[in-house]
Amino acid sequence: MRYLTIALTKGRLADKTLDLFEKAGITCEEMRDKDTRKLIFVNEDLKLRFFLSKGPDVPTYVEYGAADIGISGRDIIMEEGRKLYEVLDLGIGKCRMCVCGPKEAEERLKHHEMIRVATKYPNIAKDYFYNKKHQTVDIIKLNGSIELAPIVGLSEVIVDIVETGSTLRENGLTVLEEICPLSARMVVNQVSMKMENERISKLIDDLRKVIQGD
Ligand code: PRP
Repeated sequence: MRYLTIALTKGRLADKTLDLFEKAGITCEEMRDKDTRKLIFVNEDLKLRFFLSKGPDVPTYVEYGAADIGISGRDIIMEEGRKLYEVLDLGIGKCRMCVCGPKEAEERLKHHEMIRVATKYPNIAKDYFYNKKHQTVDIIKLNGSIELAPIVGLSEVIVDIVETGSTLRENGLTVLEEICPLSARMVVNQVSMKMENERISKLIDDLRKVIQGD
């Protein structure tokens, strides 16, 4: 039996994912060690291999088959637009993709004025403004701390993730429009889904039972 490889997202999603996996009997003790510099972790009994990678890289590993399975935020899946199967909503990492800004920006947004939109998610922002709202905007790609952009005058609004809303509140910003709800998803390589259907389907079923509390 060959190893099935699972790519997990580094950071706050990793612990929640491992908790869920453990409840489904998919354990990997080594991965809990915060100090380790190891990149690959193995569960010999289940013939599973795990690795942690930066969020946007997870769909890349899965599309190319370097990982059979990935756990990734829906934001990343939408932004990356990779060819893969999205098979399960894990119900963790719940948040929303929103257009945010100072209250004053609301009118300019409503009247379809030419505004600048700062975001880590240019593809999601383009799809929302161009295809859904038919509104022309200037999209500026940033790599983090997006809330800074309207405060220092780089853009009128931002497209970003809102979880608790505290980053917005503490910086005098607010949600102006909601684009879509988000959560962590399981994605599967299209060839692996055929070649390893039985094992992957069992993993999905086991996780689904935990999520549904069966
Ligand atoms: C994310 C997001 C917001 C914040 C939202 O940033 O970009 O800034 O979390 O969470 P909240 O609604 O609970 O305040 P992250 O911490 O991932 O870092 P980044 O700013 O570098 O992207």
